[in-house]
Amino acid sequence: YLNYQVPRTRKEIFERLVKGLQRLEYRGYDSAASDIDGNSICLIKKMGKVKALDEELYKKDTLDLDEKLNTHFGIAHTRWATHGEPSALNSHPHRSDKDNEFVVIHNGIITNYKELKKYLINKGYEFESETDTEVIAKLIKYVYDNRENDSITFSALVETVIQQLEGAFALVFKSRHYPGEAVSTRRGSPLLIGVRSEHELSTEHIPVQYNNLLTISFYSSHLHNCLYVFPVFLSAHSAVIEYTNKVLYLEDDDVAVVTKGELSIHRVNRQAGEDPVRAIQTLQMELQQIMKGNFDAFMQKEIFEQPESVVNTMRGRICFESNKVVLGGLKDHLKEIKRCRRLIMIGCGTSFHAAVATRQILEELTELPVMVELASDFLDRNTPVFRDDVSFFISQSGETADTLMALRYCKKHGALTVGITNTVGSTICRETDCGVHVNAGPEIGVASTKAYTSQFVALIMFALMMSEDRLSLQERRMEIINGLKVLPELIKQVLSLDLKIKDIANELYQQRSLLVMGRGFNYATCLEGALKIKEITYMHSEGILAGELKHGPLALIDTEMPVIMLIMRDACYVKCQNALQQVTARSGRPIIICCEGDSEMPKNAYQTIELPHTVDCLQGILSVIPLQLLSFHLAVLRGYDVDFPRNLAKSVTVE
Ligand code: F6R
Repeated sequence: YLNYQVPRTRKEIFERLVKGLQRLEYRGYDSAASDIDGNSICLIKKMGKVKALDEELYKKDTLDLDEKLNTHFGIAHTRWATHGEPSALNSHPHRSDKDNEFVVIHNGIITNYKELKKYLINKGYEFESETDTEVIAKLIKYVYDNRENDSITFSALVETVIQQLEGAFALVFKSRHYPGEAVSTRRGSPLLIGVRSEHELSTEHIPVQYNNLLTISFYSSHLHNCLYVFPVFLSAHSAVIEYTNKVLYLEDDDVAVVTKGELSIHRVNRQAGEDPVRAIQTLQMELQQIMKGNFDAFMQKEIFEQPESVVNTMRGRICFESNKVVLGGLKDHLKEIKRCRRLIMIGCGTSFHAAVATRQILEELTELPVMVELASDFLDRNTPVFRDDVSFFISQSGETADTLMALRYCKKHGALTVGITNTVGSTICRETDCGVHVNAGPEIGVASTKAYTSQFVALIMFALMMSEDRLSLQERRMEIINGLKVLPELIKQVLSLDLKIKDIANELYQQRSLLVMGRGFNYATCLEGALKIKEITYMHSEGILAGELKHGPLALIDTEMPVIMLIMRDACYVKCQNALQQVTARSGRPIIICCEGDSEMPKNAYQTIELPHTVDCLQGILSVIPLQLLSFHLAVLRGYDVDFPRNLAKSVTVE
């Protein structure tokens, strides 16, 4: 959404919207659409990626691209399909009727859309798409058509609409009846507002207007010297990074209104204990952090960033001289955490794997029972949670709906909630009692890489912080801290194996399946490696606990089935060797990831990838990297777009 005093051409506005969408594309790329306000509202929709939308505009000979528009007002959306296949018709904005009286874009899922749709169809409204979102566009028109008061405001309409909606949403509306005005609201899904003024903003927060009348009140009086503000509603900051680093986060059920470049925030009622202002925050994100640089893909760039990203996770938190580890976000809660009944680590996908990877060292150093849970399964089971539990929510985006629901569930049951996230200001960050920001920097590649190794390091640091006063654990702690000190250097050594891994990919890329096997500290690497392979190469891949081999998976082994085995020099070494014997005895020809100088391994391997040896509990940080690289090369060789794996999206904000 753009709103300036200076007239601009339709083309300029469209280009800005498309650029913003391209920055958000990793969050969904099934279809893209845009709507620009001029003398007439124009809707442009296209299936596929944002590029297709961009090209579409120039094909529309009915549009005067050079027309100067006084109201610079556009909404744009890139979709990850939930209800209805990816198609131009199902892409957003959705409209109330053929005259585009109201249009809306939506992230999230409306769970009661079937009931609403039935009601609206009975009232004579006709639907054109298969989406849940379209009911919102029809519903607002219904409220408008049945208004009792002709001077009803746009925000009052939106407030009425959201009272009828169940599920999760971030919405932006526009309407022919309210030219130059945009209204936005959220519940459950992320929504932030970028603001900019020509001069320094002279306010640090925006007051919330509590009233039922919802007369629009401007806050420009708080912004002395402000010629205009630049409000833009978005689901992630990266979309507007070159225009502003000032953002504010909306709370559930806030209704934000922009008119003539001025912003106000409304709510019907003030809840007890609620903050009556929304703070303007300054984000530290650099444009170059979200550019690919010399790399072919964001994923590749992010894999190669890991020597620096792990340093950023540790920066200012570990003192290598005194062996002290301080996680500022947790220190005030440390006593409470130490007294707890158990630690529950909750996440999805890669973030869940970070919990699996660190569980053993957490158990060892905290001497507490540690549960690791997939958020969706944890919720499905209505898992018992107690007031003296400490629950951790691990999430790169900080917005994953399943993890967020699990967080609210634990909160309701009185457990302390701790966030381990990579996105400052995300919903999980804001809703947890305390937390650790992993500082890996923006992760754009849909397949998570550097966030995983940073989550891994952050959880290890937590274990170290918990064990600081345990005399019997000091030697172990020192070993780990020394290991962390040289970790960036060792990661660089692993990355230097890239060409070798590319050669292996060349031999494997036409295979249909790939098994990854290991145990102990490296089991999580098998799960994570297999996830990377399946999500970007579309090969079947399974992470197998080597101890389970003889209980079933051994039946898959023959001369054809490619198997990667992780056999590192740790307490499981002999057991892993047994698994290797079982594989080779069935004529399997494994690729073995092992420690440098292990003379035993090459004898039995079809290929070996030798990694520097480190402390057992850190070895998984190194052993995952060859699998990240392998999946990248396999995907490229198979001709797939590494950063945009089919059917996936970076931030899964729906349950
Ligand atoms: C895999 C991947 C996903 C995410 C999962 C959780 O490469 O990226 O499995 O890890 O969707 O996302 P976050 O960490 O944002 O909660």
